[in-house]
Amino acid sequence: MEVLIRESAEAGCRLAAKVIARVVREKPDAVLGLATGRTPLLLYRELIRLHREEGLSFRGITTFNLDEYVGLPATHDQSYHWFMRENFFRHVDIDPAHTHVPDGTAADLQAECRRYEERIATAGGIDLQLLGLGRNGHIGFNEPTGSLRSRTWIKILSEQTLRDNSTVFGSFDALPRHAITMGIGTILDARRLLLLAFGPAKLRATVDMIEGPLAARCPASALQLHPRATVVLDEPAAAGLQYADHYRWIDRHKLDWQRYE
Ligand code: GLP
Repeated sequence: MEVLIRESAEAGCRLAAKVIARVVREKPDAVLGLATGRTPLLLYRELIRLHREEGLSFRGITTFNLDEYVGLPATHDQSYHWFMRENFFRHVDIDPAHTHVPDGTAADLQAECRRYEERIATAGGIDLQLLGLGRNGHIGFNEPTGSLRSRTWIKILSEQTLRDNSTVFGSFDALPRHAITMGIGTILDARRLLLLAFGPAKLRATVDMIEGPLAARCPASALQLHPRATVVLDEPAAAGLQYADHYRWIDRHKLDWQRYE
């Protein structure tokens, strides 16, 4: 796992934007897996800036989002459809027809899950999957102790995740209890992973993910199985890592072609 520690979330997001911009420039028809949450907000802002000021074009890009709440239509301001449109898609030149978010209102949710997997396969698979990290170690909406080989499916959200997300949602009771999410197996199929974790609330999950055993109690530890996973942390999220100095050493001694900035 490539672990990159930066002094702040802002610096981490600038770095992550460079990683994504390089993929987009090298492969203008790349397939990107995208994530929602507070963590990638500054990253999307930076990508929008690169689009406006440095001509970064998303015209040929296809996207697949990790997850969506069950029951929320795309017009609901807490849906991930809405989040992506407001925070990224409508500010860049991406073709809306090439953006995919699971449909949490589908009459047949199981069929929607199978369709989502098929659409990813038809697009040629995901070149780079962006990920956030839940405080309990979840990625997408894959909660602790779920299968490490799961595919896109309907998941019941843990109480902790509901409480964490209700600060955004406004009310615990109003939050849907179910979500459609890419599975861990779906995520591991991406050719590259880029996970961002910022702030002290992610410290424990960050340690478990990077230095803990591969274990279903920390779904993000599945990244240890991926041949090309990059993790970007700020100092507070990295504060519990036993090998932090080693990661900084590696970062300082990279060959030029291994650097992003
Ligand atoms: C949510 C999302 C995840 C996200 C995580 C962290 O439940 N399903 O994709 O990475 O929680 O959210 P945040 O970035 O707001 O801390």
